[in-house]
Amino acid sequence: MIRAFNLVKRYPGGTTALAEANLEVERGEFVFVTGPSGAGKTTLLRLMLRQELPSSGQIIVNGRNVGALPASKVPELRSTIGVVFQDFKLIRRKTALENVAYVLNVAGLSRSEQKQRAYEALKGVGLNHRLNALPPTLSGGEQQRVAIARAVVTDPELLLADEPTGNLDGELAVEIMRLFREINARGTTVVVATHDKELIHRMKLRTVLLDGGKVVNAGEKPAGQPPAGTAGEPPAGDPAP
Ligand SMILES: Nc1ncnc2c1ncn2[C@@H]1O[C@H](COP(=O)(O)OP(=O)(O)OP(=O)(O)O)[C@@H](O)[C@H]1O
Ligand SMILES: [Mg+2]
Repeated sequence: MIRAFNLVKRYPGGTTALAEANLEVERGEFVFVTGPSGAGKTTLLRLMLRQELPSSGQIIVNGRNVGALPASKVPELRSTIGVVFQDFKLIRRKTALENVAYVLNVAGLSRSEQKQRAYEALKGVGLNHRLNALPPTLSGGEQQRVAIARAVVTDPELLLADEPTGNLDGELAVEIMRLFREINARGTTVVVATHDKELIHRMKLRTVLLDGGKVVNAGEKPAGQPPAGTAGEPPAGDPAP
């Protein structure tokens, strides 16, 4: 699903955020990306989304060579990726339901289909009782759940989350990770950038360690973690469709 090959990112001004980073993430995996502040975690996610261009090397996302993609193909790339940020980025004047529904606007669905799917996504994160609430009237955890519903309502191939629990307390953080695990079990590959050591320790999932812009430990897939979409069945080696 993701392949970084000798990936280098130098920002104007001279900071080298990624220094020949190499990484492979298979379809259906759940991966934490961790490392000290400035290690390059956010940069790696931004390169996957083509919010930045690599200085050299390659970043491949689901077969697309992201750095070489023509600008006209970038919206299509982004339509396959759900994104969750630390600061939620909700639209304050839109209700929870509208915040989730509007991302389906581009998908060519009717208004009522958009609302129906947004409702299902909000129900999935346990917020069906707060559909008409405006973000400033929601708690931090509730706002984060709206952001997650918005990120997954399009059924993305890949979910990228950058410090998604940075503003939440420990129990809520674990709850959010449970939601991510459910989304992952339905077939979405999940990559979570976080420096929350306690959370990583509790989840016991593959953890990639970045330091100084390099992958210094690629982590291991935990034994017994079934590939997404085949919960309970023995791994058959069949790639998900
Ligand atoms: N837009 C930018 N322009 C210049 N330098 C940048 C830019 N964005 C990030 N950097 C620098 O690149 C390096 C990597 O930053 P990045 O945000 O990827 O780190 P991070 O691992 O996400 O850190 P944190 O844990 O603090 O979020 C840092 O030294 C940072 O100062
Ligand atoms: Mg960061």
